[in-house]
Amino acid sequence: MKFQCTYCALSLALASTVESFTTILAPFGTRHRSAFARSSTAIDATAVFFGTSTGNTEEVADLIVAKLNELGHEAPEPICVDGVVGDLKTEFSKYEALIVGTPTWNTGADTERSGTAWDEVYYGELDDLDLSGKNVAVFGLGDQISYGENYADATGELHEVFSKLGCKIFGATEIDDSYEHEASKAIKDGKFCGLLCDQVNQDDLSEDRVDKWVKQLVSEGFMSSGGAAAAPAASAPEPVEAIEAPPASKPAVEVIHSRDGWVGHDNGESTLWVNSENRRESYLTKN
Ligand SMILES: Cc1cc2nc3c(=O)[nH]c(=O)nc-3n(C[C@H](O)[C@H](O)[C@H](O)COP(=O)(O)O)c2cc1C
Repeated sequence: MKFQCTYCALSLALASTVESFTTILAPFGTRHRSAFARSSTAIDATAVFFGTSTGNTEEVADLIVAKLNELGHEAPEPICVDGVVGDLKTEFSKYEALIVGTPTWNTGADTERSGTAWDEVYYGELDDLDLSGKNVAVFGLGDQISYGENYADATGELHEVFSKLGCKIFGATEIDDSYEHEASKAIKDGKFCGLLCDQVNQDDLSEDRVDKWVKQLVSEGFMSSGGAAAAPAASAPEPVEAIEAPPASKPAVEVIHSRDGWVGHDNGESTLWVNSENRRESYLTKN
């Protein structure tokens, strides 16, 4: 059975009959667009690519992007993989770091477990890509009660595919007491290989899980060279003390604070406050 997210199915249907369908689909945003609808050639910081059948993975993708933006890291709207099949090389090259997410369907199968367009590209289009050295983090959705022996298995496959492409994988998580599964192929070396959520049974936990995970990615240096390119705000408050742009390399462990439109990057000794609107103004406070 082939699943496809609703907006992508709609866009493909329209594409066959409407010449300039990108204009027509504009109200649906960029996530479900065809690859060629994007005009910018600049390299953005981080993008979230997801597959979905019933929308749960997309909900978590939205939470991740919202959290990235809140913490001052540039990320476009999540991108549905169905809309970029055939253009993955170009699409992935636009971003310095990738966050990729999948649900689990096809219970019992060994491979191609996502039930989304990921399955079409794992052992085809992706094989030909050179993603060595690219920062990648994975997340996955499943139902740990009804499918407790196979909770979010497909996340493990997603992780394996990107690992084999030479990517640097970030964001493995501890399996805390909130999870009730029996087994999962997403467990690697005693940890989940990324962020696991369950919108069926624990949707109330997803926001906190995303919050913790994105902060973990920041502290691991996942977007170490991202988040600096943004348009200036129309008007900005007076910075307390103007300083040089933040250094390219961040400390290994960094704590993030948020206060009145400013995001603080705390390295234990001092905190670099960056204006979360224009991401250019900054000032330093000693702890
Ligand atoms: C037929 C079917 C098979 C499923 N198989 C699994 C499974 O093997 N493991 C799992 O964790 N969840 C399984 N699920 C649950 C889905 O992964 C879960 O509903 C997920 O949130 C769907 O995400 P999506 O809305 O992004 O497609 C299955 C659900 C259905 C209906």
